[in-house]
Amino acid sequence: MSIFRTKNLDDMVAASRKPGGLKKVLGPFDLVLMGIGAIVGTGIFVLTGTGALTAGPALTLSFVIAALACGFAALCYAEFASTVPVAGSIYTYSYATLGELVAWMIGWDLMLEYGLAASAVAVGWSGYLQSLLASYGFGLPTALTAAPGAVPGAATYFNLPAFVIMIVLAFMLSLGIRESARMNNVMVAIKVGVVLLFIAVGVGHVKPVNWQPFMPFGHTGVLSAAALVFFAFIGFDAVTSAAEEVKRPERDLPIGIIGSLAVCTILYVVVSAIMTGIVPFQQFAGVDHPVSLALKYAGENWVARFVDLGAILGMTTVILVMSYGQTRIIFAMSRDGLLPKRLSSIHPKHGTPWLATWIVGIVFGLLAALIPLNVLAELINIGTLAAFSLVSIAVIILRKQRPDLHRAFRCPGVPVIPLLAVAFCVTLMAYLSWHTWLAFGIWLAIGLVIYFGYSRHHSVLGKQGR
Ligand code: ALA
Repeated sequence: MSIFRTKNLDDMVAASRKPGGLKKVLGPFDLVLMGIGAIVGTGIFVLTGTGALTAGPALTLSFVIAALACGFAALCYAEFASTVPVAGSIYTYSYATLGELVAWMIGWDLMLEYGLAASAVAVGWSGYLQSLLASYGFGLPTALTAAPGAVPGAATYFNLPAFVIMIVLAFMLSLGIRESARMNNVMVAIKVGVVLLFIAVGVGHVKPVNWQPFMPFGHTGVLSAAALVFFAFIGFDAVTSAAEEVKRPERDLPIGIIGSLAVCTILYVVVSAIMTGIVPFQQFAGVDHPVSLALKYAGENWVARFVDLGAILGMTTVILVMSYGQTRIIFAMSRDGLLPKRLSSIHPKHGTPWLATWIVGIVFGLLAALIPLNVLAELINIGTLAAFSLVSIAVIILRKQRPDLHRAFRCPGVPVIPLLAVAFCVTLMAYLSWHTWLAFGIWLAIGLVIYFGYSRHHSVLGKQGR
């Protein structure tokens, strides 16, 4: 029973084409929108405030650095996604290249990215909803507004809105991908519309003097902010987890991944330049709605309200796509026997992995309700950066192991581009705190225990005697 056993790539591709699996309904436009749906959210609407305090107006540079890390990794993702169009994203790819143990650990690691990111964004969503409700005179009982200990000096026990949105979206996802993608498309249009509105209205209020000094905290500030706002790009890889539901994956997945990342990078750099051009960056201290604050600062109150509403919708799509990605990873791991089999059972009518979907909604909904945002957010970036580094290494390995494979999309400049991806990701990881590293280590240790206690003995590959 080798921990290095690998899946046969050709079998995997064949299995994904068998009738009776997930429905193939998505095209390239759906995928770009799905990417934007996953990407634009809490990062731009909430974290830009802290980012501006950390880097000053050079926050624009932080976004460019984080985008480069993602861009190099995206090229690697796109190659994998177009070669191995099966559900489960990098987990599946690594099962075919790096062996079962590494694949399990990556799948386990991805739960930090997708599942916890859904929880974290649900908490941000809850905050914006409560602020919008408050502007109309409505409020929840304090006990139900946040996780225990999330608000110093307040007796909070359960973040009810965060839990409810996770459950509502689990319901939507359990009805089927087509319905969910359609809803996603509408919300993405609203979200991008609101960001463009901010740009159009904000640009007239920019005072270039606010961009001086440009880098008040030097490169340390710029890199620390990059490690933080990296969160704003998380999600483009969720597109790859839809591989089995795409009509023409070889062509459409690379378009979906690279297209959505490019659009978001442009939006982020422009928005952060305008924000820091309107408001002196020091004013963002303690602000959890920096984009609308900039508009209010400029006296554009009515636009600020639109932006608040757009932020709520924007974050909804992020939660949706992240939850979706998480269900598909659980689905793939269960189909391989590494998680209990029932988790990959498909609903006869809706064609969705309904049990995995509901478990994600309930478990990550509870985490959103019970754990403060800062604790959740800490782990997400490190888990994602680790996953990106591994996928980049896996591209190099697969090129060596299987030069013969048909690759509809080839990452340019191998091995330089994958190695640059690793270098960027590891540099950003170095700027995260030791608490984060410790928690990450504990999470991986729990994963190892489950692998050796359960998954290794139930693995479908293992049962085939491989
Ligand atoms: N990129 C996503 C966001 O910023 C996770 O909300």
